[in-house]
Amino acid sequence: MTGLVFCLINQKGGCGKSSTCFHLAGAFAGLGYSVLLIDADPQGSLSQGFLGSDTVENLPASETLAALFDESCFFLDRQRLIRATDFERISIVAANQHLGDFNAPRPEKSGMIQFALRDFLEEQNAFDIVLIDCPPNLYQCSWNAMIASNYVVIPVPPEDFGTQGLRAVHQAIDNARKLNPTLRRLGHLVSRYDRRLLVHRSYEERLRELYREMVLDTTVPEASAFKVALACRQPVEIYSAKSAAAKTMRDLVEELLARVAERTRKRTVA
Ligand SMILES: Nc1ncnc2c1ncn2[C@@H]1O[C@H](COP(=O)(O)OP(=O)(O)OP(=O)(O)O)[C@@H](O)[C@H]1O
Ligand SMILES: [Mg+2]
Repeated sequence: MTGLVFCLINQKGGCGKSSTCFHLAGAFAGLGYSVLLIDADPQGSLSQGFLGSDTVENLPASETLAALFDESCFFLDRQRLIRATDFERISIVAANQHLGDFNAPRPEKSGMIQFALRDFLEEQNAFDIVLIDCPPNLYQCSWNAMIASNYVVIPVPPEDFGTQGLRAVHQAIDNARKLNPTLRRLGHLVSRYDRRLLVHRSYEERLRELYREMVLDTTVPEASAFKVALACRQPVEIYSAKSAAAKTMRDLVEELLARVAERTRKRTVA
């Protein structure tokens, strides 16, 4: 794999992981990057966004990400898992309920299966960017994602006052780094943010105090444009390129790439 691999992780449900992957793909593609999306969530939300729920629910395991984990699929042509979407420069490996059978809660003890996604991505050389959407837990799918990624982004909803959940995410990242030393945290992404709400502003302030530069400057606002575009099965960059929502996603791309460049420079200097 010659491109950059990002995963979006948080065990908190509904914080915008899938929505951010969906719209980020549009923003990257709009800027000319070729994007491979990996749906690593048995809920299949990202796949449904691109392919429709009927299609996704009816896919056999052998045509989804589950094939990488399923012994009976080991001899299939894995390139067939990569599907084109309706959009230029965006492809996806889909997931559905079949992936649930493999999302074991103690992934560290699962032998070579931990490296299934990494090995698959190492075979790919046609993509600049890989975005991996994870489920709301830290089981096998998220673990595989972290082992396969260069960078982790942690979307956080600005109302999650328990720090316990984030601590578990950071612990899991530390554990994954033992097997994948290239993994870097790019930062927390405040998502579904409503600046009119005092509670959101206070949370953001506290998060920045706690994690400082480990919080991305870009915040993703709660905005109907994201929902409407998703309902129309189009990334907001394509649905409404001039909207504030589309600009937010372009800003996020720019910031992610700037942070990647900075990390690369630091590593080179060190
Ligand atoms: N910035 C946003 N503005 C408006 N709606 C949003 C935004 N982000 C996400 N949503 C909506 O909130 C819901 C949950 O978002 P999403 O599915 O992306 O969360 P998730 O973290 O992937 O959830 P899960 O943990 O279940 O996978 C969806 O209906 C989505 O369209
Ligand atoms: Mg999701």
